[in-house]
Amino acid sequence: MERRDFIALSTLVTATSIMGADTTPQVLQRQLQSEIYTPRPLAFNPKKLNGFSEKIILSHHQNNYGGAVKRAKMIEEKIASLPSSSAPFELGSLKREQMVAVNSMILHEYHFDNLGASGQMSPALANKISAVFTTTQNWENEFKKAALSLGGGSGWILLVYNHRLKSVENVWSWDHMHGLWDSEILLALDMYEHSYQMDFGANAKEYVETFMKNINWDVVNKRFESIS
Ligand SMILES: [Fe+2]
Repeated sequence: MERRDFIALSTLVTATSIMGADTTPQVLQRQLQSEIYTPRPLAFNPKKLNGFSEKIILSHHQNNYGGAVKRAKMIEEKIASLPSSSAPFELGSLKREQMVAVNSMILHEYHFDNLGASGQMSPALANKISAVFTTTQNWENEFKKAALSLGGGSGWILLVYNHRLKSVENVWSWDHMHGLWDSEILLALDMYEHSYQMDFGANAKEYVETFMKNINWDVVNKRFESIS
C-alpha cells in the first residue's frame, strides 16, 4: 500500500471509530479505491495528430473513455452498498459490469497514452519482435490484419509481452473482456467503431493505417523496457 493510501485509510478508520459507525474494512477499502476513478487528461495535443480530427479524439476521450470511468466508479459504489442480504446473482451481475467498465477504462488509457506520433520502435523491442515474427514488418502486417478482423465490431488489438510464453504476441480481444493472462500491454489499438466512425466512416483500414502513423513509440519502448 502506498503511503498516501495508508494515510487516507488510517484517516477513514479513525473517523469511523470516532463516529462509532459499523462500516466494514471492505467498504472502507472501496471508498479508498473510488478516489482513483478520475479520467486522465490527454498527454498530447489532439490538434497535432496526423489524419485524426481533433473532434474525434476529444469525443472519444471525453464521452467513451470518460463514460467508462464514470460507470466504473458508480458500479464500485453499488457493490460497496449492496446489503449483506442481497442474492449472489445481484453481486455477480455487478461484478460482470465492473469488469467491463474497469477494463474499458484501463484499455482506453493504454490506447490514448500510446498515441502522439513520437519516436520510433527501439532496437531492443525490434529485436524481440523479430525473434517471433522474423521482421518488424511481418509483425505490423499481422497486427493490422488482426485489427481489421474487428472492423465493424467491437474490441481491441494488443501487442503484449507474455511472461509465460516469454515472447511478444498480437492479442485479439473481443469487447473489453478478453485478454491473454499474464501479459503486459505494450501497444493498444481501440477497434470500437466510436474510435473512427466520425472521421473514416466504415473505413476501418484507413483508421488502422492512420493509427500506425500516430503511435508514440517512446511510450511503447518505455513499457517494454520496464518489463525486460
Ligand atoms: Fe474507445
